[in-house]
Amino acid sequence: MTDTPLSAPAPATTAERLADLKTRYHEAVTASGEQAVAKQHAKGKQTARERIEQLLDHGTFVELDEFVRHRTTAFGMDRTRPYGDAVVTGIGEIHGRQVAVYSQDFTIFGGSLGEVAGEKIIKVMDHALKTGVPIIGILDSGGARIQEGVVALGKYGEIFRRNTAASGVIPQISIVMGPAAGGAVYSPALTDFVIMVDKTSQMFVTGPDVIKTVTGEDVGMEELGGALTHNTRSGVAHYLAADEDDALDYARTLIGFLPDNNLADPKRYATTAALEVTDDDRRLNTLIPDSPNQPYDVHDLIETLVDDGDFLETQPLFAPNIVVGFGRVEGRSVGVIANQPSAMAGTLNIDAGEKAARFVRFCDAFSIPIITLVDVPGYLPGTDQEWTGVIRRGAKLLYAYAEATVPLVTIITRKAYGGAYIVMGSKQLGADLNYAWPTAEIAVMGGQGAVNILYRGEIRKAAEAGEDVDAVRTRLANEYTYNVASPFLAAERGELDGVIEPASTRITVIKALRALRTKRAAMPPKKHGNIPL
Ligand code: HXC
Repeated sequence: MTDTPLSAPAPATTAERLADLKTRYHEAVTASGEQAVAKQHAKGKQTARERIEQLLDHGTFVELDEFVRHRTTAFGMDRTRPYGDAVVTGIGEIHGRQVAVYSQDFTIFGGSLGEVAGEKIIKVMDHALKTGVPIIGILDSGGARIQEGVVALGKYGEIFRRNTAASGVIPQISIVMGPAAGGAVYSPALTDFVIMVDKTSQMFVTGPDVIKTVTGEDVGMEELGGALTHNTRSGVAHYLAADEDDALDYARTLIGFLPDNNLADPKRYATTAALEVTDDDRRLNTLIPDSPNQPYDVHDLIETLVDDGDFLETQPLFAPNIVVGFGRVEGRSVGVIANQPSAMAGTLNIDAGEKAARFVRFCDAFSIPIITLVDVPGYLPGTDQEWTGVIRRGAKLLYAYAEATVPLVTIITRKAYGGAYIVMGSKQLGADLNYAWPTAEIAVMGGQGAVNILYRGEIRKAAEAGEDVDAVRTRLANEYTYNVASPFLAAERGELDGVIEPASTRITVIKALRALRTKRAAMPPKKHGNIPL
C-alpha cells in the first residue's frame, strides 16, 4: 500500500500533468499491493475490482471517487492513505442496462468502513436513487473501521437510511463475498436479495468469541453465519453460490428479470408464445396423482408455464414447502409463488409465509405480475408454530396479497383448505383471475378431518355394528370431497372464474396476463400500512 507522491516535483507541462494522472490512476488501482492481492486470491476470493469487472458487461465500468482518501490521523492512520480507500464504487451496465455498484476492498484496511468509504457508498447509492437504477453491493468487510469510532458508525446509519428510502424504488442486491460482521449485516438485510458464497462468506451480528463469552455456546464461524446456514436455517440469504463466479452470474441473471425502478417495466424479451396445446402442456393432465396423499414436484408445472422453462428460484433452500421465483410469460417477467407438495406436503408454516410475503411485496413494488399455484392442505399444526407466532407472522402473507395491486392470477391444482385457501391468492383477497383444475379440493378442511366431525355418530354406529370403520370413513370422506370440496361449487359461486383442463393452464395464464396488462388498482391513500412484523 503506497502513499501518494505529494513530495514529487509539481508537473509543469500538459504532458507532465497527463503523466501525473496516469501515475496516480495506476496507484489507485494497485493500492492494495501484490502481497494483499495474493492473500485474497489464496482464500479463493477475487479482488474488489475483479468482481466488478466480472459482474458488469465488459468495458462498461466507470469508476467514481478513485482519488478519495481518508482523513483520519488516529492510530497513525495518516501514514497510510491509499487512493480509493477500502471500497471501489461506480456505474456500469448489465445486459446493456445501467446499474450502480460498490465493492468493498478487503485488501485495504480489511474493507472496513470509515468516514470516506461510507461517503463513497452513500454517493453511489444516491446516484442510483436519483437515476432510478438498481444498486448492487459486494460486501467483504471487517465492519465499522475501529480507528474511526462513532464517525464510522454514523456512516452505517446513513447507508441504512438510504437502503430504506430505496426499498420499493430501485432493486437492491447484496452479494456477500467475505465477512459482514456486527451491525454491518443490516445493510444487506434491508436489501431485496442477498447472495452468499459457500465457505467464503459469513454474516453475523455477534461473532463466535462474543457468543462464547456471553452464552458459553461453542460455535464456529461457518456454522454460525456461513452461506449454508443463512440459506437453509435463517432465511437471510436468497441464493447459495458454489463460488464467486456462480454468485456474480446469479446476480446478472436476477437483474435480467427486474425493472430498473418502480416506475419502469422490466425489459420485454421478444418471444412468440404458442397458443396451441403442446406435448409439454398435455403432460400436466397426468401431473396430479390419483392418491391425494401422493406428492408431485411443482417445478414441473412452473417450468411448463414460463417461457422456455426458464425459472430463477430465490431462497430454494429455505422453507422449500413454498417455491418462489421469477420467470417470463410472453417475454415479460412474472413472479411465481407455489406450494410444494413434495416438501412437508406443501403445508404453510411461519418460514414459508414470511418467504412468500416478502416475495409478493417485492413483485408488487416493482409491478411484476404474480402467478400463484395452490396445493396446500393447511397450516402446519403444533405448539412450536403457535408459540413462535404463526398468527402474527402468518398474517404477513395475507397482508402482502391483500395490498398487492399488480395482476394476480391463481391456479388451484389440488388442495386448498381453510385459511390456507384464503391466503394463497384467493379471489376474496384480491386476485384478479382464479382458476382450478378438476382435481381441486376447496373447503374448510380435508375430507378425513371433516368426516370425523360431521359423521361422528355414523362412524360410532358403524363400529357398533361391526362394520369396517376405515372403509366407512373413506367412503364418507370421498363423498364429502366430491360434494362439498368440488371446484364446481366454488365456480358456481363465482369464486373461481373457471375450471380448466390442466393442459390448457399455460394458455389460460397467457390470456389472463394479456387481459390484466391494463389493470389499474390502488390502495386508499395513507402514510404507510402497519404490516404485522
Ligand atoms: C479496522 C480492520 C477491521 C476493522 C479488519 N481490519 N477489520 N481494520 N477496522 N473493523 C483489518 C485488520 O486489522 C487487518 O489489517 C486487515 O483488516 C485484515 O484483517 P485480518 O484480521 O488479518 O483478516 P482475517 O483473518 O481474514 O479476519 C477477518 C475478520 C477480522 C474476521 C473480519 O478482521 C475481524 O474480526 N475484524 C473485526 C470485526 C469486527 O468486530 N468489526 C466491527 C463489527 S461492529 P492488517 O493491517 O493487519 O492487514 C460493526 C458495527 C457496525 O461493524 C454498526 C452499524 C450500526
